[in-house]
Amino acid sequence: MEALKVMQRRASLKSCLSDREINKGDLIQILEAARAAPSGRNNQPTRFVVVDDKAIIQRLAAESFSRGNAIAGEAPVLIFICANPKDSTDRGGESHFQFDAGLATENLLLAATDLGLATNIMTGFKEAEAKKILGIPEEVRVIAATPLACPKPSSYDEAAKGRLAERTRKSLAEIAFRNSWGNPVG
Ligand SMILES: Cc1cc2nc3c(=O)[nH]c(=O)nc-3n(C[C@H](O)[C@H](O)[C@H](O)COP(=O)(O)O)c2cc1C
Repeated sequence: MEALKVMQRRASLKSCLSDREINKGDLIQILEAARAAPSGRNNQPTRFVVVDDKAIIQRLAAESFSRGNAIAGEAPVLIFICANPKDSTDRGGESHFQFDAGLATENLLLAATDLGLATNIMTGFKEAEAKKILGIPEEVRVIAATPLACPKPSSYDEAAKGRLAERTRKSLAEIAFRNSWGNPVG
């Protein structure tokens, strides 16, 4: 897929996850895409914890993820996106770690989509429990997590079709301005 198409096709798949093993080469390509993301002063504060141990995934689903995110327990792989706020640049004392991690996360999601894999970025989990289970240091924040799975039953496009058909977005006029706030671009 071309980049622009991938951006339009990425969707948070909240069902249809197969428990089929994820190809190691695909996983590395996805992490490499995340590693290529920009960050303030190139500080690269983002870290990724890839969980592929079934027992740990089950424990995370039971003890950390919210009930609404129970699907996390169905994935063969979960990726947690983390960062130490002190490793990032700041503006007026406000760390950019969430912004840096967000850029890396979108790269990760787009790379997975390009490879035909399902993701669903989530923040609905207890951070303290996830940290305990995964041995994440105290000073590191766990920003988000996504399952990484082959779509069930067939292709990515088939699995994403329903969600993409329902997708709603604000109009360009509401979010993009020309020369002055509120003045539409179009
Ligand atoms: C910061 C953030 C937190 C989110 N948390 C959850 C979550 O806990 N559970 C979930 O199912 N989806 C979660 N999502 C996914 C959103 O529901 C989804 O991105 C949004 O509805 C747009 O749909 P799309 O990703 O399919 O385009 C989250 C997304 C973001 C950006």
